[in-house]
Amino acid sequence: MSAAPVLSVEDLAVHFATPKGPARAVDGVTFALEPGQRLGLVGESGSGKSTTVLALMRMIRPPGRIARGHVRLGDVDMLAASPSEVRQSRFSRIALVPQGAMNALNPVLSVAAQIDDLLLAHGSAEAKTARRARIDALLDGVGLKAETGDLFPHQLSGGMKQRVCIAMAVALSPSVILADEPTSALDVIVQKQVLRTLIGVQKRLGAGVILIGHDMALMAQFAHVVGVMYAGQLVEIGPTKALFADPRHPYTRMLIASLPSFERRFTFRGIPGLPPSLVDRPEGCPFHPRCPRADARCRVETPAEQTLADGRRVRCHYATEVG
Ligand SMILES: Nc1ncnc2c1ncn2[C@@H]1O[C@H](COP(=O)(O)OP(=O)(O)OP(=O)(O)O)[C@@H](O)[C@H]1O
Ligand SMILES: [Mg+2]
Repeated sequence: MSAAPVLSVEDLAVHFATPKGPARAVDGVTFALEPGQRLGLVGESGSGKSTTVLALMRMIRPPGRIARGHVRLGDVDMLAASPSEVRQSRFSRIALVPQGAMNALNPVLSVAAQIDDLLLAHGSAEAKTARRARIDALLDGVGLKAETGDLFPHQLSGGMKQRVCIAMAVALSPSVILADEPTSALDVIVQKQVLRTLIGVQKRLGAGVILIGHDMALMAQFAHVVGVMYAGQLVEIGPTKALFADPRHPYTRMLIASLPSFERRFTFRGIPGLPPSLVDRPEGCPFHPRCPRADARCRVETPAEQTLADGRRVRCHYATEVG
């Protein structure tokens, strides 16, 4: 795959103001997403995954702010665009299935009414019956019957709510879909079904997808490219197969090793130690206090990003070391 990217992100940084100084929640994230490509973002709680995708939508609210970087969505520079351009781009060019999306549905509106509101807000000039036909088709596209449109959120199961959120995210045929843990509240079987649905609509649209998740096994199945975040940085990003077969950052290794070896089906349980403070980051490599490979150099020198032969990018002094 080497088409022009639908999304390119360069040196993105997001800071949250705190009494002790700025918390660097996202700190120099760079990647590109090609049409039809699925990128999985993994990393511990607090590593900056949600903040990254919210920044792409220009949805960071005070005390947070985008401190630097570039986000290009096709020919739109999202960080320089006017508020009205940004509003227009949301849903039509880039759409988010937010973390906890199931609770984001409006409880007092039927499913069809909330999708209709979205179509109207984005200037649909169709008559009501034509819009309803579109809504039925959208619901059908995520495996829901047309009658689901008449139901209210409390009448839906978790999996159905997630499907409705996906239907809304794809309603205006965006070229990029951001899905922030869209299945984490669901049981394993429903998770798989919802992910398959997401892949189905993504393929139909030819959209690029960023999927955030904790389940490395699900990522291995879903993503073409996996990005590993630690303390606001992408510490390793590369093709899924290569990254799983031969992880180059010690943190990636530990994430993969912490999976049960039999079948690798379960969410990682975490690795020893705690992530660093985002305000008072340790000197050197942010991972050095937890890293089994760390030496004197790692305690003082921040690793620059290295690009390996297979296109992988890794922030570790010893990324090419054997073993
Ligand atoms: N509104 C806020 N005010 C202050 N700090 C915030 C705010 N939102 C996020 N942060 C900081 O940004 C960091 C990254 O948070 P983020 O929600 O992006 O993590 P995440 O990787 O999505 O975690 P999770 O897996 O738990 O969803 C957090 O450590 C937190 O300290
Ligand atoms: Mg999150």
